[in-house]
Amino acid sequence: MDEREARRAKARELRRFEAEPTPLLTLPGSPDMALFSPFGPMIARTTVAPGLVAQLNRYVDTRVTPGVAGEFHLPGPVVLEGGDASLLRVTEALIRRYVASLHGMPPRSVQVEVFWSVSQPAGSPSPVHFHSSDISGVLYLKVPDIQDPAREEEKTYISNRQAGFINFMIGGRQAFARSVVSFKPVVGEFYIFPGWLLHGAEPFKGLGERRSLAFNATVQTE
Ligand SMILES: [Fe+2]
Repeated sequence: MDEREARRAKARELRRFEAEPTPLLTLPGSPDMALFSPFGPMIARTTVAPGLVAQLNRYVDTRVTPGVAGEFHLPGPVVLEGGDASLLRVTEALIRRYVASLHGMPPRSVQVEVFWSVSQPAGSPSPVHFHSSDISGVLYLKVPDIQDPAREEEKTYISNRQAGFINFMIGGRQAFARSVVSFKPVVGEFYIFPGWLLHGAEPFKGLGERRSLAFNATVQTE
């Protein structure tokens, strides 16, 4: 490798830590003010085909006792069902896109270690945690009917909202900074994020099941 090539390789290596200097929003006024919030982990949200959600629910339905909280690993045949449209292949492709967008190049390898299903009836929380993996994610398979959703949505994670949102957090309360983001689960939506990122789900008040599917993946990059 000559000197110029080595310099380019080094720049590529470092580029993954550098955010785009793109404003989050621009406040109109005189003069305009551009607001940047470039730091921190990336959370991706995408969707999967309704057919895949239905296929996974058909299997999970056979394993879940209504009204009882529980989780279990998905067996290989369920993960592989559907060939190129299977849960495994779809997830691997999404992880590749996520990593490539951050690093400017696709990962050398992606290996999903495990998928597991989590069923939560009303009142069951998912305490704040991180994963042991490089990349993790969560796909929503069922969402409950929230009791008095308008009232719940007036509240926040910190003010005890009981609506089953997923909350990602980094650090504590920090002045002039944001440290919590909450997403309302929607069936078919798939979040992908670094495994080290703290997250948890509030319990909910209402009827039905909050059903999610999580994964842990190992990723090797150049
Ligand atoms: Fe998790």
